[in-house]
Amino acid sequence: MLNRREFLHLAGAGTVGLLAGQAGGLWPMPHAVADVGFKPDVELTLKATVSENAIMPGQPTLVWTYQGRLLKGDAWHLDGSGSSYLGPTIRVRRGQKVRIHFDNDLPEESIIHWHGLHVPAEMDGHPRDVIATGRKFVYEFEVRNRAGTYWYHPHPHARTGPQVYGGLAGLFIVTDDEEQSLMLPRDEFDLPLVIQDRTFDENNGLVYLTHHMERMTGFLGNRILVNGQPRYTHKVVTRPYRLRILNGSNSRIYNLAWADGRPLTVIGSDGGLLSSPLVRPSVILGPAERMEVWADFNGMGKGDEATLVSRELDLGPLSGMTGPGGMHGATAGGRFLPNGAPFAVARFEISHVEKSSLRLPGQLTEFSPEDTDRAANRNAPRQFHIAMNHMRGVINNRVFEMTRVADDEVVTLGTREVWEFINRGGMPALPHPMHVHGLQFRVLGRLGALYSGYLDEGWKDTVLLMPGERVRLMMRFEDYDGLFLYHCHNLEHEDMGMMRNYYVRAA
Ligand code: C2O
Ligand code: CU
Ligand code: CU
Repeated sequence: MLNRREFLHLAGAGTVGLLAGQAGGLWPMPHAVADVGFKPDVELTLKATVSENAIMPGQPTLVWTYQGRLLKGDAWHLDGSGSSYLGPTIRVRRGQKVRIHFDNDLPEESIIHWHGLHVPAEMDGHPRDVIATGRKFVYEFEVRNRAGTYWYHPHPHARTGPQVYGGLAGLFIVTDDEEQSLMLPRDEFDLPLVIQDRTFDENNGLVYLTHHMERMTGFLGNRILVNGQPRYTHKVVTRPYRLRILNGSNSRIYNLAWADGRPLTVIGSDGGLLSSPLVRPSVILGPAERMEVWADFNGMGKGDEATLVSRELDLGPLSGMTGPGGMHGATAGGRFLPNGAPFAVARFEISHVEKSSLRLPGQLTEFSPEDTDRAANRNAPRQFHIAMNHMRGVINNRVFEMTRVADDEVVTLGTREVWEFINRGGMPALPHPMHVHGLQFRVLGRLGALYSGYLDEGWKDTVLLMPGERVRLMMRFEDYDGLFLYHCHNLEHEDMGMMRNYYVRAA
């Protein structure tokens, strides 16, 4: 039997029909059984199932959720304490081996993707690996990422939007020795905030797309939930907190700031800590992007409140209000909250005054500036044009094809490349949060920036492109060959085909 490396050689250049129709012979079947040779440090089960959750006052809401169970390791690894629909928070140390048994108890196919993690292609949760109702998939990988805030969610083709919207998502937090050596807030002072927007009908049922044109702007809910709760309020003491913020929304963009006008102290982005803290009046966070904030409530008094808000962002015709989605976006609840509208996100209420000796470190970690000279294509970036074309999401004029890669989507293991994403704008002019699987990249620069509030610093896996913008990224293809995805993380766009494979060819 040929292995996939040999197959690619035989197939040669051109549009390569990797595995198409022959998956059984050329690719290992979905991992349904554990590998006895793999010795996990942490082992758990995640079951995706239909359940009920009390989100709003009154009737419970039917949700789709991940239920976790720890099989090996201590309780720290699996924090299922929350009563929300979100999946449990998985916590691991860099270098640990993890085995996760995924049970699909949903009424349709699904697969889990580990967003931001650097794992082998067969463990990445590619849509070709979906499993049917009642089936099981076993993930086994070593955690190689830096300490940081990653997450997991479903990735079946054309159904990611509705499945995530239904409630399927959770955090995957990695720590390492370098992070542990810093005196950062820990335990209850290390607070994840997953921001999502939802619309409820009069019976508290979740309302997803009500008009097909809404898919153009992407789904926009009229209520902001944090950690699965509406009007999120958290009691805090007067000391520093580490806020790990994930924009877990399908399409909504946030422009986060403190209501009282003091700046945000940003310490991390998608792939972990920045080299040093950044002070910003506000930060624009596109879908799937993460930001970590040092929030020091010192100096406030008992009963005082600090509010994290999303400030108005003038997205004009992109807001869903006057764009192609138009007023159709005014869903069941009646009220419509356009993209870019201002609102409160989270309230922090001082429950008591307490002294703390924690100081914001001036230096968080060390990483060198990207050296473009080491890129194989430094003078000719690999370009990707992103557009919406007759209700189809296209990248270089191609829609998603399950197992295909074009010859300009093949890269070589062990090399570095400059990639350029280009949002042409045009009609319809839409923002596209672009995400690449399998690695963390660095943003080299942005051309034609419409705003100044992007968080492009640090290690990234998702970068927001407004219409007319282009970004250059430095990519490193390390450790794993195989088929990986890159796509728009506006989940409605992704489901409309704004997704492609790239293939890392063994050198
Ligand atoms: Cu967050 Cu391809 O996914
Ligand atoms: Cu991903
Ligand atoms: Cu998009």
